[in-house]
Amino acid sequence: MKKITIAIDGFSSTGKSTLAKQLANHLGYVYVDSGAMYRAVTLFAMQNGYIGTDFFDKQTLINSLHYIKLHFQFNGDLGFAEMYLNDVNVEKEIRSIEVSSFVSKVAEVSEVRLKLVEQQQEMGKKRGIVMDGRDIGTVVFPNAELKVFMTASPETRAQRRFDELQAKGDTVTYDEVFKNVQERDYIDTHRADSPLIKAADAIEIDNSELSKAAQFDKVLELVQKAS
Ligand code: C5P
Repeated sequence: MKKITIAIDGFSSTGKSTLAKQLANHLGYVYVDSGAMYRAVTLFAMQNGYIGTDFFDKQTLINSLHYIKLHFQFNGDLGFAEMYLNDVNVEKEIRSIEVSSFVSKVAEVSEVRLKLVEQQQEMGKKRGIVMDGRDIGTVVFPNAELKVFMTASPETRAQRRFDELQAKGDTVTYDEVFKNVQERDYIDTHRADSPLIKAADAIEIDNSELSKAAQFDKVLELVQKAS
C-alpha cells in the first residue's frame, strides 16, 4: 500500500482529531492537528495583550509573527504529538474556553494563515500524513488522495466538547460551549480567506448517529481504496 496524504476537514468538535489520531496510529502515519497551531498563535496574542474580550490589535500580532516558533513533539505516553509555542508545551492551555473564544478571529488574519499553511505544507512533503482542520483539502493539500469532510448536529458537537472539557476539570457550562461552537462555525464559514467549505472531491460523513468504531471502519475502507 502506498503512503498517501489524508485531509480531514469539518466543523468544530466533529471528532476530527479523534479519527485522525486513530488513523495515524493504525497506519503508522504522522498526525498533525492544524487547529492546535491556530490555537497556539491565539495564546501568544493573549499572552502579549494583543487580543481580549473587546479588542484585537491585529497589526501588532502581524508584526510579531516572526517571534512565534511552533513545533510538535511526540509524547509516547499519550500516543500523539503535543504543541509547543516557543519551546514551551502549551497543549493544555490551548484547549481552554478562552482560547476557543478568540481563535476564529485570529484565524481570519491572512498573514497568520500564510505562515501556518507554509509550515503545514512543509510537514506534508514526506506523505504518510493525516492532517485535520478547516482548509486542509481546499488549501493546504488540494491534491490529497483522500479528503474527508465531517459534520454532526451543533447540539451533538457542543455536548461532546462539553463532556471533554468537564472531564479535564474545566468549570465551563454547556450553554457557553454551545455558543462558542456556533460562533466559531459562523466565523469559520464566512471569512474571506480560506473559509470552511467542503472540497468538491471530499467525502462527507455525518457522524451524529455513527459510533466511533463504525466511523473508523468506514474511513479505513476509503484509505484502502485511495492507497
Ligand atoms: O480544530 P480546532 O477546533 O482546534 O480549531 C480551532 C480554530 O482554528 C477553528 O475554529 C478555526 O477558526 C481555526 N482553524 C482554521 N484552519 C484550520 C484549523 C483550524 O482556521 N486548518
